[in-house]
Amino acid sequence: MFTHEDLAQLQAQSLKMQGWIRQQTFSPGADKALRRFSSWEVAELIFRVNQSTLRGRLATDPSLPQGLVEEDGRQRWYTLEEINEMRRRIKVNRRSLMPARPAGKRALRAAIANFKGGAGKSTVALHFAHAAALDGYRVLCVDFDPQATLSHSMGLTDVAEDYTVWGIMARDLIHETNRMNASARGAESGAALPRRTLPSSITDLGLDGLRVSDFIKPTCWPTIDLIPSCANAAFVEFASAQYRHLNPEWSFFAAVSRYLDALPDDAYDLILFDCPPAIGYQSMNAVFAADMLYIPSGPGYWEYDSTTSFVGQLAEALEDLSAFSGAVPTGTMKLPKVFQDVRFLLTRYEPGNELHRAMRSAFGKVFGDRLAEHPIEMTRAVEQSGRFLSSIYETDYRDMTRETWRRARASFDQAYDEFKTHALAAWDNLEDGQ
Ligand SMILES: Nc1ncnc2c1ncn2[C@@H]1O[C@H](COP(=O)(O)OP(=O)(O)O)[C@@H](O)[C@H]1O
Ligand SMILES: [Mg+2]
Repeated sequence: MFTHEDLAQLQAQSLKMQGWIRQQTFSPGADKALRRFSSWEVAELIFRVNQSTLRGRLATDPSLPQGLVEEDGRQRWYTLEEINEMRRRIKVNRRSLMPARPAGKRALRAAIANFKGGAGKSTVALHFAHAAALDGYRVLCVDFDPQATLSHSMGLTDVAEDYTVWGIMARDLIHETNRMNASARGAESGAALPRRTLPSSITDLGLDGLRVSDFIKPTCWPTIDLIPSCANAAFVEFASAQYRHLNPEWSFFAAVSRYLDALPDDAYDLILFDCPPAIGYQSMNAVFAADMLYIPSGPGYWEYDSTTSFVGQLAEALEDLSAFSGAVPTGTMKLPKVFQDVRFLLTRYEPGNELHRAMRSAFGKVFGDRLAEHPIEMTRAVEQSGRFLSSIYETDYRDMTRETWRRARASFDQAYDEFKTHALAAWDNLEDGQ
């Protein structure tokens, strides 16, 4: 027979090996580092200008970044910082190389969400973050999934749970409860609201003293930051249920939205959420904070089925929330929740597979132009790079056949370009100062 004590003992044993196993699996040796990009990539794939045009510019102005020449030949290789400096300083045909950003708006928030595990959420989130950073955007990723695939892929493995979405939610509970108590005391007329007290097990964690920036970790990409997750954050679902009980007026689903409202408008351009494969407190925070939903789905029948049920469950959960009768939420969010855009994206798609083609046309019939035109293709390159927790953008094309690399990259580039078009339209529609 086993009790909780036996389970605790098993965990203690397991923890002893955790560091070693992690090292074997995730980070063989060193910290993750970002590679340099060749002049071919910078010109044709990143700036999308003629190679000789770029070479000419760099030759006439020696104060521009000159990169490094590697042993293998004529190509120069540039860091992302150098690429961003060129982007700021070079114009081609009077066209700026800076990416578009609507004036006077905060960062756009997009959630990559589906309750199905293995739908490709983390892969899409990782690749869109990298594509956007190469496009010149400043990106903040939020990992809502305690499986922490995105955090691990971005090189963050030793994360304390205080600094995850759980910490943000618990800190929000403390702040909101204090705010409600203060306004209850200050009210001179009307029925006094009950004062809520939180147990010292929550207030003594020191979370209310954390600043907004304490939750944000840098990654090896100079323009990508991350609010990471970790396996221990799985108990957030359990804890949140208790928190709601402690203060039923707390708008638990708006914690992350309120947190992001506290960031300066110009700190980031794009905020990307990787969602957990379940409906719960974390995923509700993600969808609630999102301006835009991007729903990846595999091209199989069961995936179609579970994507349909995801949309249904989400509709129900959001309907429930719209009747939320607790404290009037603060921040920029409103009830009922309104998205600027909702799109579906097929992933792991094989153009040669008859079933996939049939499912694509079924998705198209049902969702119409909500279905992204460019699916993400299943590729060995992504499968392989995924195993090393890297994106195709991070993989050096010299490490595989150039054609294999290009095909995989082209598929993500097209999906990103389409995402960007929709994102810019959604961004334009955000209310000013919102
Ligand atoms: N386009 C693709 N080509 C090949 N393998 C893929 C592709 N997209 C995802 N995968 C693989 O499928 C698995 C599940 O993807 P993942 O993004 O982790 O899904 P989720 O986050 O929805 O659970 C991973 O092993 C990943 O490497
Ligand atoms: Mg995932």
